[in-house]
Amino acid sequence: MFLRSQRRDLMTPRSNVPMRWRDEVSRILITKAELHRRVNSLAAEIERDFAGRELVIVSLLNGTVLFLADLIRRLTLPLRLDFMGVSSYRGGTEARELIFTKELRLDVRGRDLLLVDDILDTGKTLACVLAKLGRLKPKEIKTCVLLDKPSRRVEKVAADYVGFEIPDLFVVGYGLDFAERYRNLPFVGVLHPNVYLNGAESMTSAAK
Ligand code: XMP
Repeated sequence: MFLRSQRRDLMTPRSNVPMRWRDEVSRILITKAELHRRVNSLAAEIERDFAGRELVIVSLLNGTVLFLADLIRRLTLPLRLDFMGVSSYRGGTEARELIFTKELRLDVRGRDLLLVDDILDTGKTLACVLAKLGRLKPKEIKTCVLLDKPSRRVEKVAADYVGFEIPDLFVVGYGLDFAERYRNLPFVGVLHPNVYLNGAESMTSAAK
């Protein structure tokens, strides 16, 4: 169940984008202040739901870096942290085969897990990672994503904690990238189509 304020549409004008990014980002979808407020409230929900338990947070690299850092510094419950490396978008906006680039190191058997990802899109990543984690026999797995694009779902998977529901747009910033760029933007913005059209051309020529 989402509050109206958690849905994001293309309401913000192009002029909201700082001058530095105007050629590459067509709109700001979620501002820095909105991210700050929502991450605070997600942390409060998690804190309440897991009260009195030790949590193992499994975060998916690389897109969660900013979200995770903000989320965990607001949690006071005891927690341990580990990462899994998963890659599905390799240099473009179209999904490719899923590759595990880093495996979990903590023993999660019998533990309460919180799986954190940046964005739930087709659901293939979350479904695959949940199946893999399930085989390690944790006590419980809950999922937390910053963004959810429900219109693109292919797998039957939903997250327990969702920051914002967004329309079918390719977004960057606050950890999300295009070809490893834009992760440092303090907001979530819509990638300008020129970038991936030009990007695809330069990658093709680089590969030749
Ligand atoms: P699936 O389709 O498996 O996708 O749910 C999850 C992963 O795909 C990446 N992804 C995006 N990355 N902007 C991005 O920077 C987007 O709009 C986007 N949509 C999907 C992301 O890595 C996520 O973990």
